[in-house]
Amino acid sequence: YRRLRVALLGAGAVGSQVASLLRQHADELADRAGARLELVGIAVRDLDAPRETEFPRELLTTDAEQLILGADIVIELMGGIEPAREYLLQAIGAGADVVTANKALLATHGPEIFDAADRVGAQVYYEAAAAGAIPIIRPLRDSLAGDRVVRIMGIVNGTTNYILDRMDTEGAEFGDVLADAQALGYAEADPTADVEGYDAAQKAAILASLAFHTAVPLDAVHREGITHIDKAMMDAARRAGQVIKLLAICERLPESADGAAGESISVRVYPALVSREHPLATVHGANNAVFVQAEAAGDLMFYGAGAGGVQTASAVLGDVVSAARRHIAGGVGVGESTRANLPVVPIGRVITSY
Ligand code: NDP
Ligand code: HSE
Repeated sequence: YRRLRVALLGAGAVGSQVASLLRQHADELADRAGARLELVGIAVRDLDAPRETEFPRELLTTDAEQLILGADIVIELMGGIEPAREYLLQAIGAGADVVTANKALLATHGPEIFDAADRVGAQVYYEAAAAGAIPIIRPLRDSLAGDRVVRIMGIVNGTTNYILDRMDTEGAEFGDVLADAQALGYAEADPTADVEGYDAAQKAAILASLAFHTAVPLDAVHREGITHIDKAMMDAARRAGQVIKLLAICERLPESADGAAGESISVRVYPALVSREHPLATVHGANNAVFVQAEAAGDLMFYGAGAGGVQTASAVLGDVVSAARRHIAGGVGVGESTRANLPVVPIGRVITSY
């Protein structure tokens, strides 16, 4: 097989699992990709920090820029906006295809990154940027490209679902379970992103952009978090046969934002009361579930691990195999869906029960 040089940026909860799996399954991945994926280095901040998985420590470097040069595929698993944005643009400029799980970056600088990739014929893969291990980016971008998605509704943040679920089932306190979610590798580096709904809003913006073929700006997404949810509210919901879940709703509306003719979309994230009979009520722990309604396909449901290092590594490695196949095929592959200009209605219609 031909060798492809793979550079990894980040060896935290997800990156350390990717590093380990790339080596552990090297032969199988080579068969599937049609190329040997050679991990040439891993950029981190602290060379001496403990790592969760086994890989040769000599792969670690603090010089990300040097590592990017000469890589065929760059995997960004550092998180945050800078320097992740700069490194991805450098990688694209140097001719690499890139894989990222960074929803914060894509929801804020997605058009800049996709445009940079389009200009040089590179590809950006980001299956892990929404709903962890669940395949949802490709289904929306590719499988449903011939249909008209009308609605997406789901639980897209594992940390908040884990917290709310333990508050509901064990009567646990918010602060205690947040610490557990951090220890389990579910939470963002700054867990405010999870508990205040920013992470879910970023994912909702990404999913809505794909589903409705438009660029949904993050500031158009209505967002509420779960920090005000307390035991009394959980108890009241339970007595009413309901459970509180942080939902992301993306909808195509039959009217435009200003009431004129034409469609618009509404994207919103907020804690909602969900009937215990509803399938979303049965989503436990850090799992996610995404319901997609499309005009021709009808109702589709995607369910699975929404967070966690090794689970998310599955989606990242799938993207790496896709990038390698594209490379071997001479750069032929799936492009971004065309982006239209549907207006976004920033304030969602308030729906409190499902
Ligand atoms: P972690 O915080 O666990 O790991 C981040 C890694 O990036 C660390 O190894 C860190 O180095 C390195 N890093 C950070 N900044 C720099 C820098 N400036 N230069 C070099 N290295 C740097 O993050 P996660 O693994 O949890 O998440 C990674 C990405 O995946 C994020 O975008 C996150 O949103 C996304 N994601 C995470 C999921 C999860 O369940 N954890 C699920 C889906 C997506 P060091 O170790 O030396 O500090
Ligand atoms: N912090 C995120 C979550 C990781 O809890 O869902 C997965 O994107």
